[in-house]
Amino acid sequence: MVEASAPSNIALIKYMGKIVGSGNQPTNASLSYSLDHWRTIVQLESIAGPEDRWAPLERTGYAAPVLSEKGREKFLQHFQFLKETFNAEGAFRIRSANNFPSDCGLASSASSFAALTWAAAEQFQARQSVNELSVLSRKGSGSSCRSFFTPWAIWEKDGAEAPQGLGFQKLLHAAVIVSGAVKEVSSSEAHVRVTTSPNFVGRTDRAEGRLRHLLACLKEENWVGAHEAVWEEFRDMHDLFETSVPPFRYRTTDSKNVVDACHHIWKFKKDGPLVTMDAGPNVHLLYRPEQMELAEKMVRHFREKHVVVTSWGGFR
Ligand code: PMV
Repeated sequence: MVEASAPSNIALIKYMGKIVGSGNQPTNASLSYSLDHWRTIVQLESIAGPEDRWAPLERTGYAAPVLSEKGREKFLQHFQFLKETFNAEGAFRIRSANNFPSDCGLASSASSFAALTWAAAEQFQARQSVNELSVLSRKGSGSSCRSFFTPWAIWEKDGAEAPQGLGFQKLLHAAVIVSGAVKEVSSSEAHVRVTTSPNFVGRTDRAEGRLRHLLACLKEENWVGAHEAVWEEFRDMHDLFETSVPPFRYRTTDSKNVVDACHHIWKFKKDGPLVTMDAGPNVHLLYRPEQMELAEKMVRHFREKHVVVTSWGGFR
């Protein structure tokens, strides 16, 4: 029996839109920060019988992901692809669990597919490098290829890599869970639908320009500049969703109120967290360690209405 775990990651420049038939090649490069405290564990056990099966893994502090029929199928298909790649045979029970809420915009496919790829590599004693495993994982779930590098990961084409010379290596993370509901439009569906938005014209160039600017800000430790790039980026992605044909949205009144509160903080303090949202209604905040007091204050405020998960003080 082997076991592996991998972290989730939060994109600051988003992967949104993929090249059709390319095995999840993105239409633009992305950059993420690894959420090392949010993990998926995958366990593989050899079983008799013709086919692989998925089952929930029981572990204190972890819960089985909410997997739709399609989600489970995708996960098992990726394992089949890994077996073929590693020239392996036999059937396996794949158990998995996350220590964070999944399927509400808290990307659990990233950590799940990365952990499955690691576990398979270990089970079948694969000789691939980390970069090669990242490419394999990408074929199962695009954003998972970034979960092989910490704290920063850049993904331009085939697989991700660790960008050199970036500051802000240690950040505090808080996620304001305005809704824990399973989302109606999956990110796979979102990647297809955004191409129908009139705003999709120029999206690659906008994301690319922002990525270059953000990398420069992170190198120079320019927090204000980084915030501006990250802020524009998540709004650009959500505008794509809302102008698709037909439109769809993840932003709710509650998300808007949280985002507006962050905007106020920035306006009056000229400082604040990096603010971003994935394909879901929840809001992610990243703080520099010296902003702990501000982070605590904001978390206390958001906890009056919402569950807030923090990297420094657990889940409440
Ligand atoms: O890897 P996928 O297909 O679940 O896509 C993830 C897309 C976003 O989370 C919205 C953005 C990103 O880059 O992680």
